Amino acid sequence: MQLIDGQAIARTIRAEVARDVAALVAAGHRPPGLAAVLVGEDPASKVYVGSKGRACRAAGLHSVTLTLPASTSQAELMEHVRALNQDPAIDGILVQLPLPAGLDEQAIIESIDPAKDVDGFHPANVGRVQIGLEDAFAPATPAGVLELLRRSELPTAGRHLVVLGRSNIVGKPLMALMVQKGVDCTVTVCHSRTRDLAEHCRRADILVAAIGRPGAITAGMVKPGAVVIDVGINRVDDASAPKGYRIVGDVDFESVAPLCSAITPVPGGVGPMTIAMLLSNTLRSARRRLGITAK
Ligand code: GUN
Repeated sequence: MQLIDGQAIARTIRAEVARDVAALVAAGHRPPGLAAVLVGEDPASKVYVGSKGRACRAAGLHSVTLTLPASTSQAELMEHVRALNQDPAIDGILVQLPLPAGLDEQAIIESIDPAKDVDGFHPANVGRVQIGLEDAFAPATPAGVLELLRRSELPTAGRHLVVLGRSNIVGKPLMALMVQKGVDCTVTVCHSRTRDLAEHCRRADILVAAIGRPGAITAGMVKPGAVVIDVGINRVDDASAPKGYRIVGDVDFESVAPLCSAITPVPGGVGPMTIAMLLSNTLRSARRRLGITAK
């Protein structure tokens, strides 16, 4: 059984981004810039935005964090996004979701310049990913799943990938990425209304869990030899842990891991990849905006 070390792979990608940023700056260009917008006091969102800012600075990117009160109006938030759209030092704009109640998330997403939408949530990028255009910004989590498979040299062509969860952030964009020519999976998307979930799971060569339920995927749901990718990040109470809780995935790791040919741990699997892919998208955006041939 191969343990897929997302922490190490993410570190490699971040080092590659840092190297490329240093080369840009050495050639006389400005560094790529990422703006993160945090509205309100959601504790998990604060942690995520803090980590993104630190990762940017560590890789030599220009990082701006806008912290706005939960009372921010739709018009005020739109005005901030408009200013960032026009800011020449900013290549990527990320409005941390979920937004506080009362703000129209979709309208905010659609107000971001698609050329700066490094989260890949704008319908223009959703469509471009669906079409299979290589220069589209794919959302960080599904892009991270694909990159983990690639860098672990796990083949995808002709394999049956089953994803649990149909969110706009993970399940649907993963479906689009994995079915593309060159990746060539056969994809099944399962969700809360799927009948015979375990049966679908047992047919998976690659099983991706993104449902947000701790330990939901058990040994009886996994085909021996399958690759299992756990996107879940769930807090469970644990009196013996220093913080009183620990983080577990959607997969019951203890029972499932011995069956797999490869599996991601939680933490240390998909999680660290999301920030790495965000930095990578921001670098690509900067290259394009600087007129340097994108790759
Ligand atoms: N909330 C959960 N995941 C994400 C993400 O990838 N981007 C943003 N902006 N918000 C999120």
